[in-house]
Amino acid sequence: MILLSHSEDATLALGSAIAKLLSFGQVVTLHGDLGAGKTVFSRGVARGLGITEPVTSPTFTVVQEYRLPDNRMFFHLDMYRIDNEQAALAFGIEDFLFAKDAITLVEWPERIPQLLPVPPVLPLRLEHADHDLRKITIPDELASKLRQFPLPDGIEVQSN
Ligand SMILES: Nc1ncnc2c1ncn2[C@@H]1O[C@H](COP(=O)(O)OP(=O)(O)OP(=O)(O)O)[C@@H](O)[C@H]1O
Ligand SMILES: [Mg+2]
Repeated sequence: MILLSHSEDATLALGSAIAKLLSFGQVVTLHGDLGAGKTVFSRGVARGLGITEPVTSPTFTVVQEYRLPDNRMFFHLDMYRIDNEQAALAFGIEDFLFAKDAITLVEWPERIPQLLPVPPVLPLRLEHADHDLRKITIPDELASKLRQFPLPDGIEVQSN
């Protein structure tokens, strides 16, 4: 399903709604260019999981770890500055990709194609459509769950 987000707030709200549809142990990959909204979406997921502390971009830290109110974890990874799989293994990426009691979001997953768990990865794609407009492609299995609820304000399904 292809969605259109009309604002940063709408993408945040979408992330928050999708957070409630994810299962623990699941890895979500966020594909898309610089500034497409991957971190904004991730911040929304964190909010939806009940995390209240500031959610900052992991571009420089590579991983940000957040504890949920029930002690499970939210891991937010950004592979942008990771050159290859060896470098990712060196910092212990497997601890984040295969954590059972965590939800893990990965920005720039293209850097580490061989390391991603198959098939449980849920791939999302965010693309610039216009100034504040973003096209967000979500996989069918997630779309069917999302359709059971009203979409957040500022999010619409792209027709055709
Ligand atoms: N509809 C929208 N959804 C999300 N972000 C939007 C939207 N419209 C405008 N923006 C702006 O686009 C930018 C998205 O930045 P963000 O850091 O989330 O991108 P990113 O995909 O994580 O980039 P990077 O690859 O550099 O990590 C923000 O400045 C945000 O305000
Ligand atoms: Mg980012």
